Amino acid sequence: EWTPGNVIAEQVEAIRATVGSDRVICGLSGGVDSSVAAALVQKAVGDQLTCVFVDHGLLRAGEAEQVEQDFVAATGVNLKVVDASQTFLDALKGVTDPETKRKIIGREFIRAFEKAAREIVAESGDGEGEVKYLVQGTLYPDVVESGGGEGAANIKSHHNVGGLPDDLQFELIEPLRTLFKDEVRAVGLELGVPEAIVWRQPFPGPGLGIRIIGEVTAERLEVLRAADAVAREELTKAGLDRDIWQCPVVLLADVRSVGVQGDGRTYGHPIVLRPVSSEDAMTADWSRLPYEVLATISNRITNTVPEVNRVVLDVTSKPPGTIEWE
Ligand code: XMP
Repeated sequence: EWTPGNVIAEQVEAIRATVGSDRVICGLSGGVDSSVAAALVQKAVGDQLTCVFVDHGLLRAGEAEQVEQDFVAATGVNLKVVDASQTFLDALKGVTDPETKRKIIGREFIRAFEKAAREIVAESGDGEGEVKYLVQGTLYPDVVESGGGEGAANIKSHHNVGGLPDDLQFELIEPLRTLFKDEVRAVGLELGVPEAIVWRQPFPGPGLGIRIIGEVTAERLEVLRAADAVAREELTKAGLDRDIWQCPVVLLADVRSVGVQGDGRTYGHPIVLRPVSSEDAMTADWSRLPYEVLATISNRITNTVPEVNRVVLDVTSKPPGTIEWE
């Protein structure tokens, strides 16, 4: 019988059997999947686990702080924060192809985990042993869409599935690999993961890197971060967070259009709003948001982000469009 309690009991036993007395790290993003995976492994092997939060510079406003506040405060888990933003930016320089971006980001995540693992061992009392296992919050839909499911096409290389390097030195532990998002949320609630995390909307591991259409640069990230913060704030204010699955905000960095502000001509970039409703992200429909909310978001973005002079709404379902633009 499928119950969250049974899943937890099974996974805890399996994780203990695999890990024994070895050290484990878990890539923590602050999202539901990695948080629930971490909580499961913590329940199974306690202090043998260290969570690693990689700040890849592709995060939204306030995200790094939130991980510490919400998850670490609630669970007391060991946390190591790695600032790798310059490394990621350098690796992404000049890259515009979506799959190439995803592969680079997947690879850099692993490099950051390897570095963190060496530091964790060095900082430990005896400096002995190695980190043998890496926990990832991979879900069933990630596996399918990355081409790992039976007969499935490779739609996108999810950063933690199709984007892994061949010479990976960790063994993977993926306790959520057979679960859908609603099941993960049920398991998370049962484990006592804070509701603010359990009900958080999905956000992709590659972050804003796959929401800038074109090359990723520090300046473009600033623009997108500002626009995204406005959209999120207004959706929350309107009480719509639980009604929509997620709302990617996308910067068309290589597109420009003419606008007018005051007496002046502008030649700025469009921002795309992509609010969707979905059950499991395998299919989705565009959300019929109230016009007033859309108007407020549009006004605020164009008034406060000078590089943006146009806000457009994506009205495509999945299929044919995927949720993210890359
Ligand atoms: P798509 O764009 O494929 O997205 O319709 C489906 C869901 O997956 C999220 N997504 C990702 N999540 N790593 C993640 O952890 C990734 O590489 C990745 N790519 C897409 C996306 O936000 C949506 O919820």
